[in-house]
Amino acid sequence: MPRRNKDTIVIAVPKGRVLKQLSDRLEQAGIPTDALTANSRKLVREDKETGLSYLLLKPDDVPTYVEYGAADLGIVGRDVLMERNYDVFAPVDLDIGKCQMMVCGRPKEPIAGKGQRPLRVATKFPHVAEQYFRAKGTPVELIFCQGSVELGPLTGLADVIVDLVETGETLRQNGLVPLEKIADISSVVIANRAALKLRRSKIQPILDALRG
Ligand code: PRP
Repeated sequence: MPRRNKDTIVIAVPKGRVLKQLSDRLEQAGIPTDALTANSRKLVREDKETGLSYLLLKPDDVPTYVEYGAADLGIVGRDVLMERNYDVFAPVDLDIGKCQMMVCGRPKEPIAGKGQRPLRVATKFPHVAEQYFRAKGTPVELIFCQGSVELGPLTGLADVIVDLVETGETLRQNGLVPLEKIADISSVVIANRAALKLRRSKIQPILDALRG
């Protein structure tokens, strides 16, 4: 790992729709976000005033950077933490990025496979889906998709999907409906375990500010 200033706290943040809510929360907490919100392609954003450095990442990669200590803190949706186990501490729920993990499908169709075959489930969350349907005793065939999962039931690829629903607009516009809720999702702050011990005097005030 490249050497870094020991006084700098590195925060891994997700690019995408949660970033605006996150910067609002940081501002509310009195943490300026000019470096974070600057219109730039830079993936490392250093804020000299606060001593914070932000890494802009795909949401799924945030816990990896925190687990390995490349970042001290991270902001990530609970969906990412449900899908894979990471050795990180999750001390603060930010109550932003709120949505639901749901089973969705065509209206008025039972959650069942066709004929003798198991239920086909298209999803970005195979582990979550597998656990959910196993607990229900429903045999499934999992079909991993990276995105636009709603296409699964529309094209005959799958019977249902397991996906995140925020406003429900994507479902509506594609003729699908929510069928069963698996979990409520929100964004949480995660911390590298060693960093939390070794740099607590710098990290704790950030956690307290974010906790509001
Ligand atoms: C997410 C999710 C749904 C959509 C739900 O996809 O997978 O498709 O948002 O939001 P809504 O209920 O407000 O319509 P995202 O936009 O992240 O893109 P993706 O399909 O490429 O994953």
